[in-house]
Amino acid sequence: MIRPFLQIVTLGLIPGLATADPTTSTLYATHYNTSSIYTLSLTRFNGSYSLTETASLKTCGTYPSWITLDSSTKTLYCSDEDGYRNADESVNGSLTALSVGEDGSLSEKAVTGNAPGSGVHNVVYEDEEGEKYLAIAHYSGAALSTFALPLQDDADPLQVLEFELEAPGTVPERQEAPHPHQTFLDPTGSFVLVPDLGADLIRVFAIDKSNGELSTCPSLNYTLGGGPRHGVFRTFSEEPRIRGRAPGPEPVLYVAGELNGEVEAFVVSYPNSGCLSFTQFNTNVPYPSGLPEGASLGEIRLADDDLYVSVRQDSAFDGDDSLARLSLGKDGKVEFEEISTSGGVMPRTFAINKAGDLVAVGNQLSSTVAIVERDLDTGVLGEVVAELLVGVPGDDNMEGPPMYGLSSIIWSE
Ligand SMILES: *[C@@H]1O[C@H](CO)[C@@H](O)[C@H](O)[C@H]1NC(C)=O
Ligand SMILES: *[C@@H]1O[C@H](CO)[C@@H](O)[C@H](O)[C@H]1NC(C)=O
Ligand SMILES: *[C@@H]1O[C@H](CO)[C@@H](O)[C@H](O)[C@H]1NC(C)=O
Ligand SMILES: *[C@@H]1O[C@H](CO)[C@@H](O)[C@H](O)[C@H]1NC(C)=O
Repeated sequence: MIRPFLQIVTLGLIPGLATADPTTSTLYATHYNTSSIYTLSLTRFNGSYSLTETASLKTCGTYPSWITLDSSTKTLYCSDEDGYRNADESVNGSLTALSVGEDGSLSEKAVTGNAPGSGVHNVVYEDEEGEKYLAIAHYSGAALSTFALPLQDDADPLQVLEFELEAPGTVPERQEAPHPHQTFLDPTGSFVLVPDLGADLIRVFAIDKSNGELSTCPSLNYTLGGGPRHGVFRTFSEEPRIRGRAPGPEPVLYVAGELNGEVEAFVVSYPNSGCLSFTQFNTNVPYPSGLPEGASLGEIRLADDDLYVSVRQDSAFDGDDSLARLSLGKDGKVEFEEISTSGGVMPRTFAINKAGDLVAVGNQLSSTVAIVERDLDTGVLGEVVAELLVGVPGDDNMEGPPMYGLSSIIWSE
């Protein structure tokens, strides 16, 4: 923040005050079975931190799973993981748009119950007129849906693309059906990518820039039994939004496989076909040796030349789980560096702030948000500097899918 000149002068006259200026950041967390979004406030003051809950709102259907902030319209989009589709029936989930007030408070703007079931992730994309759309991955709905924005009450999807699997995959108990787990954009904003954990595919869709419609491109055939969960692009240019053309040298896609516990790297190119092509060139286990029995990869994020992956239920830090750091070579190859504490149990998600010096970890089972520092020079993650129990902890002994605890965390920036 740039202060007016006069104010700097005024503060400068009061000894000690200028250095003791607290800074505050806002975060939002979704919690599955309290059906709520929580507003958190992180204050940094004189080298120490405090994390508090400033508000909560019961919203986003039965199982709030994922939120995306569109900061330009101050809107949060929340997907509800309720619902499913199988051979006998399908049950819808919901989608909620919320306004973010000046003070960070939330209020519902529009709700629709016409989304396919089990929304687990969403992303905002744009057409050439700047009109916006939301693409949603539906895990147990085995589908991808899109909605025109701004969202209207009871809106129908623009498109629902349902996926099928002819036979169960290599890990039949998890791959009995397609399970799209994430939606994200390529660096040009022209394609939506969808890791499908059930089908071992990264599905690719080209965006029609005149109307936001998606058309199906050939998928990336992922390692069988890999269970791709989340992916992230690394580009080599500061100007990624040249339409339909990748910037600079070819971008690299890194994907965390939930089922094989590996990070796989692919060079991505833009052939004249108008779709994408991928060449796998590196795989790595983000752990000192093999992943411990029962542990699995969750989130994957990139900051500068480091890749971070959450490792769920390895219990490596006095019962708490891990974040793994991998350094990236100039050639894009991945090298495991170290693990550090996630500050809680089952780090389903984490998010790095824009400055790159803090990581907020969403630990699902302990239902805690832990803030860890990130060294800007080395990329190394530190100890927990602030921590907060949000909602109600999960219970590992319960039958059925783990629809409890903290489901996602984002910075409001
Ligand atoms: C800032 O922290 C230092 C070291 O912990 C402490 O000595 C000092 O009293 C603190 N100042 C304020 C204003 O809290
Ligand atoms: C489920 O959503 C579809 C649109 O995707 C809609 O046509 C249908 O009426 C919805 N079903 C229920 C029970 O709300
Ligand atoms: C991916 O697998 C499908 C089905 O086996 C095959 O038709 C397609 O050619 C493969 N794609 C690539 C790029 O190898
Ligand atoms: C949520 O799940 C936890 C763990 O299974 C349980 O203890 C709690 O009662 C559930 N309900 C609510 C509203 O938190």
